[in-house]
Amino acid sequence: MKTVLKNSQIGDLLFEDGVITKVGGNIDAPGAEEIDCTGKYIMPGVIDAHVHFRSPGHEEKEDWESGSRAALMGGVTTVFDMPNTSPQTITLEALEEKRALAGAKSHVNFGLFFGGTGKNLEEIKRAKGIVGVKVYMGQTTGQTVDETSEFMDGLLRDLFENTERVIAIHAEDEELIKKHNQIYKDDNSPEIHSLIRSDLVSFSACRRAVHLAKKYGGNLHVCHVSTKKEIELLSKYPEVTCEVTPHHLFFTVSDYSRLGNFIKTNPPVRSQNDVDALWEALRNGLVSFVATDHAPHLKVEKERGYWDAPAGVPGVEFALPLMLDSVNNGLLGMEDVVRLMCEGPANVYGVRGKGFLKEGYDADITVVDMDISREVCNEDVVSKCGWTPYAGMTLRGWPVMTFVGGVLMMEGREIVSGNKGKEVVF
Ligand code: NCD
Ligand code: ZN
Ligand code: ZN
Ligand code: ZN
Repeated sequence: MKTVLKNSQIGDLLFEDGVITKVGGNIDAPGAEEIDCTGKYIMPGVIDAHVHFRSPGHEEKEDWESGSRAALMGGVTTVFDMPNTSPQTITLEALEEKRALAGAKSHVNFGLFFGGTGKNLEEIKRAKGIVGVKVYMGQTTGQTVDETSEFMDGLLRDLFENTERVIAIHAEDEELIKKHNQIYKDDNSPEIHSLIRSDLVSFSACRRAVHLAKKYGGNLHVCHVSTKKEIELLSKYPEVTCEVTPHHLFFTVSDYSRLGNFIKTNPPVRSQNDVDALWEALRNGLVSFVATDHAPHLKVEKERGYWDAPAGVPGVEFALPLMLDSVNNGLLGMEDVVRLMCEGPANVYGVRGKGFLKEGYDADITVVDMDISREVCNEDVVSKCGWTPYAGMTLRGWPVMTFVGGVLMMEGREIVSGNKGKEVVF
């Protein structure tokens, strides 16, 4: 099967049997299906390197079918799933169980993280084909952390010394969180979330991990960086990679009054000063990529009081439109979006054959229309959670076609194929 995309910003692009075979200029391809992309922008399919698709264990919030359909809507062709499912992906058996689920149901390509607990080093060494090892330094959804900071330091040291893989961390200092929980225990307003999990909570854990990576020579990646303090620290350690989420770019503490626990997430939303530092770090290349931390929770759960509402916000459907809208608003260039959402994650995790529109690369392609304006509505949400914190925002710039492995999967906000994705190779 041959397809040629005609007249995009780079000219034509030809792919055959799931692989890009020619890029640019005017391509004459007899027998190929022609798709007119006049006035459209074509880019590599988005790689969302941080999602929680909840399966196995919490299919009422999301599963590989619903999560991957949501991804397609957002122009996302590859997702990397985190290990805080139920059971957690911390044994070889759980890894194979998730692999089978994703392989059977996912409409996008996928990679799986393995959780590092401090007690499963031997299994980590034997785990094949994983994205990397995820370490939760602080308590978060689906993840209890009873260990001391000393235990955490030992765990990270063992990983840095014993694996070549990327060690991705959720950097929040559990001892500080516990202290702050005591201070605010009689308060029940969502605003306290950003005080309990203060910028120092993130910075403190981030700094410990960075110093250990330096000392023991590990591949450290810091997930969902949210503070100016972390950005300043990481600017001194260019070998440490990091990601930023859309919700930390588009919300601040002033949004609690409107959205309450719907923007309760770990790490929490921050001040405008922090947000400005994140945007600057996106532009100057300090941030390796944007990932959504797509963390669907049900509305009924979010409507509970502060202490009982789970942390996490969904994002896989709207990350690309949010970034494209930012291009239209002059905050970023289109090349920044491609670097931050396609090339960046491919480079950090060493993904084979993805992230670039190059000959020989997989035909994971997203076609975007920079002139479509649409209001984000809860009714349009494909994720099982059925809501989005971005509802009410009008965004200009949307994906109009998503190809996975050369197959047109989404067109004009309709899923048009039931094809399945493949596990990524590193
Ligand atoms: C995530 C979740 O719900 O799985 N929640 C969150 O607040 N970000 C877990 C995580 O990434 O910390
Ligand atoms: Zn996290
Ligand atoms: Zn997460
Ligand atoms: Zn399906």
